[in-house]
Order: sequence, then C-alpha cells, then structure tokens
Amino acid sequence: MIIVLNNKCNLNKEEYLKYIEEINAIDSQSKLVLCPTFLNINITPPTNVSLGAQNVSAKSQGAYTGEVSANQLKSFNVEFCLVGHSERRIYQKETNKEINSKIKRLLDKNITPILCVGETKEQKEKNQVNEIIRQEIIMAIEDLTESEKNKIIIAYEPIWSIGTNKIPKSQEIENILKQIKLLLPNSQILYGGSVNEKNVDTLKKINLIDGYLLGGLSLKTNDLKIFLKKIEN
Ligand code: PGA
Repeated sequence: MIIVLNNKCNLNKEEYLKYIEEINAIDSQSKLVLCPTFLNINITPPTNVSLGAQNVSAKSQGAYTGEVSANQLKSFNVEFCLVGHSERRIYQKETNKEINSKIKRLLDKNITPILCVGETKEQKEKNQVNEIIRQEIIMAIEDLTESEKNKIIIAYEPIWSIGTNKIPKSQEIENILKQIKLLLPNSQILYGGSVNEKNVDTLKKINLIDGYLLGGLSLKTNDLKIFLKKIEN
C-alpha cells in the first residue's frame, strides 16, 4: 500500500523536526510518501519515507516569482508530487491545462505525479461525478505517451469529503475507481478525504484501493500508527 502524508500548510521548522522523530519511530511495511511544505523539504526527511512535494510549477524555470520547479524538487531528492489537489484548484484557481503542464514537467524529471481528482457536493447531487472525474483525468493526461500515463498515480478525493469526516458509500467509491481503471488500467489508485483509523475498517474492504492520501491524519502520529497497523493486518 502507498500511504501519502499530506502535511498541507502545517508544521513550522521546530514542529517538523519533532514530527520527523515521531515518523521515524513508526514501523510500517507500507510505502510512506511524506509531502511537507516546500521549506521543510530542505530538511533531512525521516529514514522510512520517500519524499513528496505538494505542488510544482507548470514552467520549467525562469522569471516566475514564487514558483518552485520540478528540476529544483529533483535536486532535493523529491520522488513524488501532488498535482491538482482540490485546495489548489479552488484557492489558486488551478486549471486542468496547467495541471497537464505540471504533470509533463514532473515526468521530464522522473518525479511521479499523484493526480488528485474529485467532485464537489453540488456535482455529486447533480449526478455528474463520473463525467467530472473523466474530464479531469482526460485533460490532465493530454499528449502523454502510454508509458508516461502508466507512471501517474491517481488520488480520488471527493471534495466534500476532505476534512469533513464524511466519506462516500463503499459502492460509490468502487464505481468511481472502476471508471478510473478503465481510463488508466495500469495506474495505481489512492483514496483520500477524511480517511482515519476508524473508517479504514470499511475502506479496507474496497478491492481497487492501492493506498490512501491522508491530510489531517498525517499530523496525528499516534492515530496514524493505529491506521497503519489496521491496513497491514
Ligand atoms: P483530509 O485531507 O484527510 O484531512 O480529509 C485529505 C487531503 O486533502 O489530501
């Protein structure tokens, strides 16, 4: 299982140093991918994780103030990068076209993109989930070769589920994952959105889940340990 720990905009340097010790003390068979904020990427990570970033520039380099390039991430041993997280789509108005460019920049540098897709509550109520997911994926993978497509990890995260303690019915998740598999048969698929040490018992029963993208739980290391024990048993 791949477990992505998305710290989002949390943990200053001092807090992160303490967090590293707590993560280091976790004994897990899963592949842990830690995505700290950009500044913390510069700090030697725990020994039991691969390093991920939460975002990357759509440009390869140049006069783009405030941006961080795939080349720069690579030079800090970043192996994975989230792309198109709903918080970036909403607050930074990231478009599917930019997301497509970001994926290309990452693949150029051999960094694995973790493409986040998911519907709003309103889209769900209007029965548009399948269409939204399909569009987000199709536009994100435009112009990629088959072998490039195979390298992308997809994270299905219903937007209404993120940070709300609500998750879809198992059957609903399974239907979406099946649709993603039809579009990208060789990609690994993660589920994200309010995943915790309690609801993992239900999520565990869904066959097509290859791993999880954790936000809030990534910061609660004691609960994270319980979660990892449960998925590894
Ligand atoms: P959450 O966030 O686990 O806190 O709901 C998941 C995410 O946004 O990646």
